[in-house]
Amino acid sequence: MDFKQQVVSALSKVLAGEVEADQITKLIEVPKSLDMGDYAFPTFILAKSRHMAPVKIAADLAAQIDAGDFEKVVAQGAYVNFFLEKTSFAKDVLTAIAEQGEHYGDLQLGSGNVPIDMSSPNIAKPMSMGHLRSTVIGNSIAKILTKVGYSPIKINHLGDWGTQFGKLIVAYKKWGSEAEVKADPIKHLLEYYVRFHKEAETQPELDDEARAWFKKLEDGDEEAHKLWSWFRTVSLKEFNRIYDILGVHFDSFKGEAFYNDKMDRVTDALEEKHLLQESQGAEIVDLSKYNLNPALIRKSDGATLYMTRDLAAAMYRHDTYNFTQSLYVVGMEQTEHFKQLKAVLKEMGYDWADDIHHIPFGLITANGKKLSTRKGNVILLEKVLHEAVDLAKQQIAEKHPDLKNADAVAQDVGVGAVIFHDLKNDRLDNFDFNLEEVVRFEGETGPYVQYTNARANSILSKTDVQPDATVELTGVDAWAVLKMLSEFPNVVARAARDFEPSVVAKYSLRLAKTFNQYYAHTKVLVDDAELPARLALVQSVSMILTTSLGLLGVNAPKEM
Ligand code: ARG
Repeated sequence: MDFKQQVVSALSKVLAGEVEADQITKLIEVPKSLDMGDYAFPTFILAKSRHMAPVKIAADLAAQIDAGDFEKVVAQGAYVNFFLEKTSFAKDVLTAIAEQGEHYGDLQLGSGNVPIDMSSPNIAKPMSMGHLRSTVIGNSIAKILTKVGYSPIKINHLGDWGTQFGKLIVAYKKWGSEAEVKADPIKHLLEYYVRFHKEAETQPELDDEARAWFKKLEDGDEEAHKLWSWFRTVSLKEFNRIYDILGVHFDSFKGEAFYNDKMDRVTDALEEKHLLQESQGAEIVDLSKYNLNPALIRKSDGATLYMTRDLAAAMYRHDTYNFTQSLYVVGMEQTEHFKQLKAVLKEMGYDWADDIHHIPFGLITANGKKLSTRKGNVILLEKVLHEAVDLAKQQIAEKHPDLKNADAVAQDVGVGAVIFHDLKNDRLDNFDFNLEEVVRFEGETGPYVQYTNARANSILSKTDVQPDATVELTGVDAWAVLKMLSEFPNVVARAARDFEPSVVAKYSLRLAKTFNQYYAHTKVLVDDAELPARLALVQSVSMILTTSLGLLGVNAPKEM
């Protein structure tokens, strides 16, 4: 059911020996307005070889082409315009959606395991907006990749190891209390950590103490391990609360600490290949031939680093999952780190390093300022989610006071607003966070798409007539909706190819808008011969809006 392909093959027949099918495919355009047809072929490239004016060539081609499969084929200026046969097009699209349901748009673009490193917040610190981005982008990419044939494995590479735990232990032992940590873990652990940095400015010996405690932790000291484990448990409990609200689940929580006893394998392999060099007491891998800074592998006191643990994790994932691709959804400020990671693996002789992809994303600022945990410029994610849900509750109470399950719907709408707001932007764009904008229920928002879907459902619930995709459907507005529905598989393919959920989000906004235009001009529930076809259209719109939102990790309530 590839309509563009129909156009290509009709053109190929009359251009045999002159233009290759591949090139025809590239040249074909989609006219700006529907009265110029559904596809257009520009004839300029033939002018030279045919020694003819493009306008004349267009006229010749239009006359030659077998118009049998189309409503009509006409020359307009230098273009040959193709009008698809509307009735069969409508039947094809609507029948496919009715039959395949949520599987419409499923593709086989690849296969195999794809670990996705996502979310990965740091223990004892609040989850940042950056981690929210990683969580929702990673979750959506997992859903999109599943739809095109891959088996994603969602991995939360928790930041639960590193020198900061030495600092935290020192700070807790000096200024902390068990009661405080029990009452509000992350708040107080962060306080201790911030205080540590402040006091270390005037008491540099604190840093030595912290290093010593981290070394103890790495060597398995009982007290150090007990404290660390407790900090980890209480932090994870808070993170899980947020993941539950977002509806995001992980296949693995193997964080940095998991690799502590797998470091020798990395350093042994590096030594064996003579890749380790000494530099100011530390051990590094020189990457100057990649135009990169050296990768730090081991500090002078023997402690390993973020990079070392990522090397161990990459090797572990390769052994465990035998992946076809391995993704890291991490902010673009870590671009250099992932370039280094790939380069070191390449130097080690692993050609699967080429299958590792960093999926970067832009920065969120608040009121134009960079967010910083240490400076206290933070947006508290859980608070944002709660406020969004509260605002959704208010809106629903005004617009639909007798709605059943109002609380559950408000949850879907508020949380959906936050997720959608994040995903509708191109992954790499920076954006400024403004809660009022996030929870606006009009314009380019998640609630607008959800509301359009609920409206489609309410139309369907008002009649006993059964939708029927085989009945003829006419009208330009319906045509615009149909064409957009037929685009969905291409949209999925593009989103998967570019690891770009915004492609789906933007599509869902366009489909919602196009459907609302149709609905404004067309009385759907009029009892005439076309009614079952109109209902099939409405049902298909609801199906594709629901599927699109689903690919973003956003629920689509039937009523709101
Ligand atoms: N915990 C890190 C941070 O918050 C992100 C970890 C990303 N994943 C990785 N394998 N390095 O910056």
